[in-house]
Amino acid sequence: MVLTRFLLFLFVLCLGSCGTGNASKNEEALPSETPAEKGASLYTVNCASCHGEDGKLGASGAKDLTLSKLSDNQIKTILKKGKNAMPPMADILENNENIDVVIQHIKSLRK
Ligand code: HEC
Repeated sequence: MVLTRFLLFLFVLCLGSCGTGNASKNEEALPSETPAEKGASLYTVNCASCHGEDGKLGASGAKDLTLSKLSDNQIKTILKKGKNAMPPMADILENNENIDVVIQHIKSLRK
Protein backbone atom coordinates (compact mmCIF):
# COMPACT_ATOMS: atom_id res chain seq x y z
CA MET A 1 0.00 0.00 0.00
CA VAL A 2 2.66 2.42 1.03
CA LEU A 3 4.63 1.69 -2.12
CA THR A 4 1.57 2.26 -4.32
CA ARG A 5 0.96 5.60 -2.70
CA PHE A 6 4.59 6.53 -3.11
CA LEU A 7 4.50 5.67 -6.81
CA LEU A 8 1.30 7.66 -7.23
CA PHE A 9 2.97 10.57 -5.49
CA LEU A 10 5.92 10.37 -7.89
CA PHE A 11 3.56 10.19 -10.83
CA VAL A 12 1.66 13.30 -9.77
CA LEU A 13 4.91 15.09 -9.04
CA CYS A 14 6.15 14.26 -12.51
CA LEU A 15 2.96 15.46 -14.17
CA GLY A 16 3.33 18.77 -12.40
CA SER A 17 7.01 19.48 -12.94
CA CYS A 18 8.88 17.40 -15.48
CA GLY A 19 5.83 16.58 -17.58
CA THR A 20 5.32 19.88 -19.33
CA GLY A 21 8.71 21.49 -18.85
CA ASN A 22 7.38 24.98 -19.51
CA ALA A 23 6.35 26.06 -16.03
CA SER A 24 8.46 29.20 -16.26
CA LYS A 25 7.08 30.01 -19.68
CA ASN A 26 3.58 30.05 -18.22
CA GLU A 27 4.64 32.65 -15.68
CA GLU A 28 5.98 34.90 -18.42
CA ALA A 29 2.69 34.61 -20.26
CA LEU A 30 0.95 36.35 -17.36
CA PRO A 31 2.48 39.82 -17.37
CA SER A 32 2.59 41.26 -13.88
CA GLU A 33 1.93 44.94 -13.30
CA THR A 34 4.97 47.17 -13.75
CA PRO A 35 5.78 49.56 -10.88
CA ALA A 36 4.64 52.48 -13.05
CA GLU A 37 1.28 50.85 -13.72
CA LYS A 38 0.85 50.04 -10.07
CA GLY A 39 1.63 53.62 -9.07
CA ALA A 40 -0.86 54.95 -11.59
CA SER A 41 -3.66 52.66 -10.46
CA LEU A 42 -3.03 53.33 -6.76
CA TYR A 43 -3.09 57.03 -7.56
CA THR A 44 -6.36 56.76 -9.48
CA VAL A 45 -8.05 54.89 -6.65
CA ASN A 46 -6.71 56.85 -3.67
CA CYS A 47 -5.66 60.30 -4.79
CA ALA A 48 -7.47 61.34 -7.97
CA SER A 49 -10.71 62.21 -6.14
CA CYS A 50 -8.96 65.27 -4.68
CA HIS A 51 -5.96 65.79 -6.94
CA GLY A 52 -7.50 64.71 -10.28
CA GLU A 53 -6.08 62.21 -12.78
CA ASP A 54 -3.67 64.86 -14.06
CA GLY A 55 -2.84 66.17 -10.56
CA LYS A 56 -4.44 69.57 -11.15
CA LEU A 57 -7.99 69.15 -9.86
CA GLY A 58 -7.47 70.81 -6.49
CA ALA A 59 -10.67 69.52 -4.87
CA SER A 60 -11.00 70.29 -1.12
CA GLY A 61 -8.01 72.62 -1.37
CA ALA A 62 -5.66 69.91 -2.67
CA LYS A 63 -2.37 71.16 -4.07
CA ASP A 64 -1.68 71.09 -7.82
CA LEU A 65 0.77 68.18 -8.00
CA THR A 66 2.19 69.28 -11.36
CA LEU A 67 3.55 72.39 -9.63
CA SER A 68 4.85 70.60 -6.56
CA LYS A 69 8.57 70.85 -5.92
CA LEU A 70 8.74 68.53 -2.94
CA SER A 71 11.45 65.91 -2.61
CA ASP A 72 10.65 62.21 -2.35
CA ASN A 73 11.13 62.35 1.40
CA GLN A 74 8.89 65.37 1.85
CA ILE A 75 6.16 63.68 -0.20
CA LYS A 76 6.59 60.51 1.82
CA THR A 77 6.09 62.42 5.06
CA ILE A 78 2.87 64.01 3.76
CA LEU A 79 1.60 60.65 2.54
CA LYS A 80 2.30 59.05 5.89
CA LYS A 81 1.09 61.81 8.18
CA GLY A 82 -1.30 63.80 6.03
CA LYS A 83 -1.37 67.59 5.92
CA ASN A 84 -4.31 69.86 6.81
CA ALA A 85 -7.24 68.67 4.65
CA MET A 86 -5.24 65.77 3.25
CA PRO A 87 -5.72 62.61 5.31
CA PRO A 88 -2.80 60.27 6.13
CA MET A 89 -2.44 57.64 3.42
CA ALA A 90 -0.05 55.16 5.07
CA ASP A 91 -2.75 52.65 6.03
CA ILE A 92 -4.47 52.89 2.67
CA LEU A 93 -1.26 52.46 0.68
CA GLU A 94 -0.29 49.61 3.04
CA ASN A 95 3.49 49.53 2.55
CA ASN A 96 6.58 51.47 1.56
CA GLU A 97 6.75 49.83 -1.84
CA ASN A 98 3.28 51.17 -2.72
CA ILE A 99 4.19 54.58 -1.31
CA ASP A 100 7.30 54.66 -3.50
CA VAL A 101 5.49 53.77 -6.74
CA VAL A 102 2.85 56.43 -6.02
CA ILE A 103 5.59 59.01 -5.41
CA GLN A 104 7.18 58.10 -8.75
CA HIS A 105 3.77 58.44 -10.40
CA ILE A 106 2.99 61.91 -9.04
CA LYS A 107 6.48 63.08 -9.99
CA SER A 108 5.75 61.91 -13.54
CA LEU A 109 2.78 64.31 -13.58
CA ARG A 110 5.13 67.28 -13.14
CA LYS A 111 6.05 69.35 -16.15
C1 HEC B 1 -9.29 64.18 0.71
C2 HEC B 1 -8.58 64.81 -0.38
C3 HEC B 1 -7.17 64.31 -0.68
C4 HEC B 1 -6.77 63.05 -1.03
C5 HEC B 1 -7.63 61.80 -1.14
C6 HEC B 1 -5.35 63.13 -1.28
N1 HEC B 1 -4.90 64.41 -1.08
FE1 HEC B 1 -3.01 65.08 -1.36
N2 HEC B 1 -3.53 66.90 -0.67
C7 HEC B 1 -4.81 67.27 -0.31
C8 HEC B 1 -4.78 68.62 0.22
C9 HEC B 1 -5.97 69.38 0.73
C10 HEC B 1 -3.44 69.06 0.14
C11 HEC B 1 -2.84 70.40 0.57
C12 HEC B 1 -2.32 70.27 1.99
C13 HEC B 1 -1.81 71.62 2.48
O1 HEC B 1 -0.67 71.96 2.14
O2 HEC B 1 -2.57 72.29 3.16
C14 HEC B 1 -2.69 67.95 -0.44
C15 HEC B 1 -1.32 67.98 -0.67
C16 HEC B 1 -0.61 66.96 -1.26
C17 HEC B 1 0.80 67.00 -1.56
C18 HEC B 1 1.73 68.17 -1.28
C19 HEC B 1 1.93 69.01 -2.52
C20 HEC B 1 2.79 70.22 -2.25
O3 HEC B 1 3.59 70.55 -3.12
O4 HEC B 1 2.64 70.84 -1.18
C21 HEC B 1 1.11 65.83 -2.14
C22 HEC B 1 2.48 65.40 -2.64
C23 HEC B 1 -0.08 65.02 -2.18
N3 HEC B 1 -1.12 65.74 -1.64
C24 HEC B 1 -0.14 63.75 -2.68
C25 HEC B 1 -1.26 62.93 -2.56
C26 HEC B 1 -1.26 61.54 -2.93
C27 HEC B 1 -0.11 60.80 -3.57
C28 HEC B 1 -2.49 61.05 -2.61
C29 HEC B 1 -2.98 59.62 -2.72
C30 HEC B 1 -2.19 58.60 -2.06
C31 HEC B 1 -3.26 62.14 -2.07
N4 HEC B 1 -2.47 63.26 -2.04
C32 HEC B 1 -4.58 62.05 -1.67
C33 HEC B 1 -5.95 66.50 -0.40
C34 HEC B 1 -5.98 65.15 -0.71
